[in-house]
Amino acid sequence: MTLSDLDKLQNDILGAIAAASDEAALEAVRVGALGKKGSISALLATLGKMTPDERKTEGAKINLAKDKVTEALAARRDVLKNAALDSRLASETIDVSLPVRETPTETGRIHPLSQVWDEITTIFADMGFSVAEGPDIETDDYNFTKLNFPEGHPAREMHDTFFFNRKPDGERLLLRTHTSPVQVRTMLSQKPPIRVICPGRTYRIDSDATHTPQFHQVEGLVIDKGSHLGHLKWILAEFCKAFFEVDNVTMKFRPSFFPFTEPSLEVDIQCRRDKGEIRFGEGNDWLEILGCGMVHPNVLRACGIDPDVYQGFAWGMGIDRVAMLKYGISDLRQMFESDVRWINHYGFKPLDVPTLAGGLSS
Ligand code: DAH
Repeated sequence: MTLSDLDKLQNDILGAIAAASDEAALEAVRVGALGKKGSISALLATLGKMTPDERKTEGAKINLAKDKVTEALAARRDVLKNAALDSRLASETIDVSLPVRETPTETGRIHPLSQVWDEITTIFADMGFSVAEGPDIETDDYNFTKLNFPEGHPAREMHDTFFFNRKPDGERLLLRTHTSPVQVRTMLSQKPPIRVICPGRTYRIDSDATHTPQFHQVEGLVIDKGSHLGHLKWILAEFCKAFFEVDNVTMKFRPSFFPFTEPSLEVDIQCRRDKGEIRFGEGNDWLEILGCGMVHPNVLRACGIDPDVYQGFAWGMGIDRVAMLKYGISDLRQMFESDVRWINHYGFKPLDVPTLAGGLSS
């Protein structure tokens, strides 16, 4: 190759570099000159076939051209990079005077059921209760038998149970009809003294304005050597005052029947019904809110606790039911409709976590 051929090639490449209008075009020029099959690389490849003398002079010339091209590429790349940055800076402006966009933690709302669930656990946690949990799919043994529902007992029929198909070994699992099996699980796995609440999902074949096939309960269980009904009464009274956010509640304990408690009681609280609104702590009406009693010795025995040493009490309450009472919800089915307007109407904010000191519902 003559010097003028090399000069021409070099000038052509330098011209193409100067003409490249963006980084992609520049890269194409680089590949065309210095890439594996590039024009300058091809010249360098010819050095191997030259005599040592030729190689000395030709090699120096070609390498000089290569250095010039490399330098020009770097310089042009800088220019193009700066130009690209300048144009981005000019086009991507931020209007700092625009209003702040609210985050989901500010715009989202908590479902009334979750709110009430948190309120209940907050109140009992303050009294020293821990939260125990169990599975939604239960055994017949934990849901019924260990809770002193003997086989064939009519109380089993009252639960309108969702049963699974029998397993090959004959066992029949079910969707728990109440949170009471968590009592069993707790007594089998913990030593007294026991003080737990068990909030959770429960299931029964039932559907109308105040019943849904899936609903929620919270169970309470206290087992110790000297636990008695007086303690239960105080706990429930304190709970009702805190939950309904009133200074006084009048409660009525009525005799009742549950297989797992003896004696068994149902609790009504005093209220006044006024044009569809319910007020607590006043009036002449009574409203049933929960079932309770002293844990039956058969239940303690079935769960490995000696009823001659320990005794205790338990209660069970519908979370949906007390949510409806507290927040004036007329149809339980609304809870499951996922209507965001309905959820927004109640307006519970995610960052307003219920506390006894700061207020449960505000
Ligand atoms: N498990 C009962 C139900 O679903 C509610 C209940 C009543 C629970 C009395 C208790 C209790 O722990 O002592 O109808």
